[in-house]
Amino acid sequence: MLSTVYAGAVVGLDGEIVQVEVDFNPHGMPAFTVVGLPDAAVQESRERVRAAIRNSGLNFPSRRYTVNLAPANLRKEGPAYDLPIAIGVLAATDQTPLPALNGALFVGELSLDGSVRHISGILPITHRAWQEGFERIYVPEDDAPQAALVPEIEVIPVRTLGQLVEHLYELNPIPAYRRDGMDVTVPADLDGLTDFADVKGQEHVKRALEVAAAGGHNVLMIGPPGVGKTLLARALPGILPTMSLEEALEVTRIYSVADLLDPAAPLKRVRPFRAPHHTISQAGLVGGGSWPRPGEVSLAHRGVLFLDELPEFGQHTLEVLRQPLEDKRVTISRARVALTFPANFMLIAAMNPCPCGFYGDPTHECTCSLGAVRRYQQRISGPLLDRIDIHVDVPRVDYDKLTDDRRGEPSAAIRERVEAARARQRARFREAPHLHANADMGPGDIKNYCRLEGAARQLLETTLRQMQLSARAYHRILKLGRTIADLAGSELIEVVHIAEAIQYRPRKVLH
Ligand SMILES: Nc1ncnc2c1ncn2[C@@H]1O[C@H](COP(=O)(O)OP(=O)(O)OP(=O)(O)O)[C@@H](O)[C@H]1O
Ligand SMILES: [Mg+2]
Repeated sequence: MLSTVYAGAVVGLDGEIVQVEVDFNPHGMPAFTVVGLPDAAVQESRERVRAAIRNSGLNFPSRRYTVNLAPANLRKEGPAYDLPIAIGVLAATDQTPLPALNGALFVGELSLDGSVRHISGILPITHRAWQEGFERIYVPEDDAPQAALVPEIEVIPVRTLGQLVEHLYELNPIPAYRRDGMDVTVPADLDGLTDFADVKGQEHVKRALEVAAAGGHNVLMIGPPGVGKTLLARALPGILPTMSLEEALEVTRIYSVADLLDPAAPLKRVRPFRAPHHTISQAGLVGGGSWPRPGEVSLAHRGVLFLDELPEFGQHTLEVLRQPLEDKRVTISRARVALTFPANFMLIAAMNPCPCGFYGDPTHECTCSLGAVRRYQQRISGPLLDRIDIHVDVPRVDYDKLTDDRRGEPSAAIRERVEAARARQRARFREAPHLHANADMGPGDIKNYCRLEGAARQLLETTLRQMQLSARAYHRILKLGRTIADLAGSELIEVVHIAEAIQYRPRKVLH
């Protein structure tokens, strides 16, 4: 007897539908063959399926089974096929009613005792199932809240194989997952974050971070040890604009594939903040593996990638950042496939000016040789520095300011200005869906959207000539000027906005 069951696979960040055909030959010699480009984990599924069926009190006749996974050109990996293969075997051996399989998709790993276990990539698979017109999806119970993020498809949470079979025979129906209790509002609260109000002094650094948040710009902070660079970077999520539901789902899909979601509260409602250690590998940073997984740049999509102690990352690791910084996505090529993951993040980097940390500090002598300082700074390549819009010095804070009990402006107040600036950008970019924030503008967009007041144009021209700035530096100043004007609520970029933008240009720290 032949049965057909539908299952799902993940390719990159997209779900695909896989057809599982099981042929049962009651006269054949005992064998269980899986064909259709399965990897080792799918081959192992034979043992899990056999044990799970028997331990659920069902029959697994020792005869010949052939399982075909289609389409054949799609590589099948992981344990998500356990449940559909088991259902296929049961249907082919007359232990599951065939009509109950219509319009349904099954995913889940099986344990030997027949319980159904969590798998990764539920969100993209469910989304594809809905697009392809499936009426319901059977998922591991733990994964039901995630599947339910896709509206308008019935989600059936399954605990065990035996329970599912009783459901399919309508003996003991499993109620569909109810979405009423789900909270799909963004943002969640930002409790536990350092508030900008508690960071003493560093007003100009806070301002630079406000500009960065308002336009999605990259930032490099340079300063001696212990002045608050790490503290400020970690406080940044508190002033970032809230995500739209669409952005939240986009981020959640990446975390679903990377298998980093909280099963009970799967929707990512706060912009990601990723702070990988400097020992991270290139594959860890941009993604990779024999079957590519998203790396830190994609996990930081729509949020922040914080690289603390930037020079420690190693030149090769940093060079691979250039493509995602430029294209806002990464392409990972493997023998069989080239996959693209989104990677539109704000890069926030922090570093000391030299190995001992005190080069240029007026109150503390630097013990490094000039050669050592130069080598340290040269670890960050010019092209990488060129892709950072905002460069800011973080100096030591006076004792008076540190011990001052007055609180600064709270993050919530800064975030309000950031939101208003983003609202202006959204209105401006209504006809340009590829632009989320000013930092995304390419040269053509800059021409369209950055109108300068006369005096501002003059200041920019003089500066360009005097400092011999590159074309990229010119564009960088214009983009920043646009964001600063947006924070000020001005459609025209004025001279004060350009003057502030110029201050954020990269400086040679070495004198
Ligand atoms: N401006 C500040 N306001 C309040 N606390 C501060 C400030 N600067 C530093 N601190 C305190 O000092 C600690 C160390 O600061 P932080 O880790 O941010 O320094 P850093 O600039 O990153 O230094 P390093 O270069 O060594 O990494 C913070 O956890 C905080 O307690
Ligand atoms: Mg630090």
